[in-house]
Amino acid sequence: MEQPADEIRRLKNCISDLVGVLGFRAVWSGGEPSQIVSTLLDILIGTLRLDFAYARFQDPMGGAPVQSARLNQERKPAVPPPELRRLLDAWLRDPPHAGRMRVPNPIGIGDVSVMAVRLGLQDEVGMLVVGSSRSEFPLETERVLLNVAANQAAIGLHEGRRLTQRAKELVAANKALNRQITERRRAEEALRLSEAYLAEAQRLSRTGSFGWDVATGNINWSDETYELMGLDRTIRPTVDDVRRRVHPEDVAFYEDTFNRATRVGEAVDFEHRLLLDNGAVRHVHVRARPLNREAGVVEYVGAVTDVTRRKLAEAERLKLEERLRQAEKMEAIGTLAGGIAHDFNNILGAILGYGELAQRKVHDGNPIEDELDQVMQAGNRGKRLVEHILAFSRSGSANRVAVHVQSVVEETLALLAASLPEGVRLEQRLAAGDAAVVGDATQLHQVAMNLCTNAVQAMVGRGVVTVTLEREEVVEQRALSHGELEPGAYVRLAVSDTGSGIARAALERIFDPFFTTKGVGKGTGLGLSLVHGIVAESRGAIDVSTREGEGTTFTVWLPYSGETEAPPAEDMAELPQGSGESVMIVDDERPLVRLAEETLAQLGYDPAGFESSVAALEAFRAEPHRYDVVLTDQTMPELTGTELAREIRQLRPEVPIVLMSGYKGAKLTALAQAVGVREILHKPLISRDIAEALDRALPARI
Ligand SMILES: Nc1ncnc2c1ncn2[C@@H]1O[C@H](COP(=O)(O)OP(=O)(O)OP(=O)(O)O)[C@@H](O)[C@H]1O
Ligand SMILES: [Mg+2]
Repeated sequence: MEQPADEIRRLKNCISDLVGVLGFRAVWSGGEPSQIVSTLLDILIGTLRLDFAYARFQDPMGGAPVQSARLNQERKPAVPPPELRRLLDAWLRDPPHAGRMRVPNPIGIGDVSVMAVRLGLQDEVGMLVVGSSRSEFPLETERVLLNVAANQAAIGLHEGRRLTQRAKELVAANKALNRQITERRRAEEALRLSEAYLAEAQRLSRTGSFGWDVATGNINWSDETYELMGLDRTIRPTVDDVRRRVHPEDVAFYEDTFNRATRVGEAVDFEHRLLLDNGAVRHVHVRARPLNREAGVVEYVGAVTDVTRRKLAEAERLKLEERLRQAEKMEAIGTLAGGIAHDFNNILGAILGYGELAQRKVHDGNPIEDELDQVMQAGNRGKRLVEHILAFSRSGSANRVAVHVQSVVEETLALLAASLPEGVRLEQRLAAGDAAVVGDATQLHQVAMNLCTNAVQAMVGRGVVTVTLEREEVVEQRALSHGELEPGAYVRLAVSDTGSGIARAALERIFDPFFTTKGVGKGTGLGLSLVHGIVAESRGAIDVSTREGEGTTFTVWLPYSGETEAPPAEDMAELPQGSGESVMIVDDERPLVRLAEETLAQLGYDPAGFESSVAALEAFRAEPHRYDVVLTDQTMPELTGTELAREIRQLRPEVPIVLMSGYKGAKLTALAQAVGVREILHKPLISRDIAEALDRALPARI
């Protein structure tokens, strides 16, 4: 038994310890379970002078129960640790019971007083077991102290457990949240990527997407749709914005299509044009599907594709097809015309030839002089027509060489000036120098002549025709009234007049063959189509600018091919005369034979005419040395001109042979050369042609 003084002191201590233990609550709350238990055991060992203290408590993380024990180090342990463990094991094996127990010291030195205290109402938090070798242990105060301390610790442990649990929940929630965030990020990234792919695909395929709620007028566009519609991305598009961009000629169709589809709630699939603010025209293909099938309440989702390139290609294809048809038509006309031309040429040859002869025989003042002039004028018109027609049938076979353009134009203008009506003035500004273009001089002459003749004819009474010729470097492709001008070096010929101008409707057709506004018998309508054909063949270009009632300018660009020398001026001297040389004339047309005989006789030759090539050959064979030169038509029954030439050359190789033909072309030239023909004359012939050809063919005379 302790002394009262001791007891009082101890009690005082106990109370102060109790207060201390109570103060620990704050320390314990929220503390780590193992820390709380260590503190509890240390305090108990110290204040109650225990031999040992032991605690077993639940792992707040749900693991195996945690055990912790303390021995009083100040005392020599009454119970050594291995024995203590055994003791506790036995004690705790059965369902732990609270309360006091005096058990024999397992190592045999007296008894030990052991007390177990529950942590928590039951032992759900754990179990506290303390032991002392003091026989009076535990005193009432000690019991109170033990219970209070155990309760405090239990509360701390419980709270710790709750906190740990809460922390665990928080960690789990946090993990879930993190997972969600990661997933979300991943989804966002995937979305961003797929949006980027979509945008790129839209850009590449020139297809934009859109959404349109018809009732609210809400419109959503993808970037590409903004691009196609030519609208700034920052602007929220309205129905009006769209409507304003639809090509004015397509607005009605566009609205009808959507209105009808909205009424019945069906899809649309159509093409229309856009007219952008910068004036560009764009063709688009619109496909849209209503999301809501309720008729009248429609929200569309759709796609709009730029099909301008395809449309342009289609238009180009149609244009090419049209050109091909035109070319085929021209070829057919050419073939037909070429066929007729031969016969017609012979008829014309006779008319003009005899006319010419008659004119020479008729003296001034003779009453038929005027009529003869009329015959010759009509004949010459016919000749021009045949020339035009032949130019067609011959196109493609022109003699392509470097032509001195300026001298050809000068020559044309000289001819034109001679026949200019009164009141019409000709102004020329020729500054192309020695520029050359590759082509045929005769054809270039036809181009200039036709343009000038048209200009003169466009003027009634008074006016000015201005002809300019100069070189031009074209830097950029340029659109012309008829076709396009490619960049390059050109010689440019412009013929302007102050005449009637060309009506809009006619402008489209002026290059068509046989299109003319001039009365029957006045114009053939072949002039410009010939010009067009020749220019196209030279890879040139034509532009027409005209104002009705004010005048017209035709501009022709021909590719510049370098510089060349001007040809010597044509000799308009007297006709070279013959001096009794014998000329064999062969032609199956009797009038032409007679005409040639008369012409040749007048020129001082001794003509011998034959209407059959076979008869001519026989005559030649009979007297090979009688003839100094042979003049033969090409197209004849039996023997043709070149066949006859071959036979004659075999009989007498040195005799000069001149061929006459309505056709002209590379094939005939080659054939004639092969059989030794000197020259080919182009029908219809005039005296000068024959006189000069014979002069060239015959050996030089003194
Ligand atoms: N300078 C011009 N001013 C006004 N109209 C023109 C002019 N040039 C051509 N035209 C119009 O183009 C049409 C066709 O011209 P084109 O030269 O092909 O035939 P044409 O002049 O009528 O006949 P041809 O050339 O055989 O005399 C003309 O009939 C005329 O209506
Ligand atoms: Mg004309």
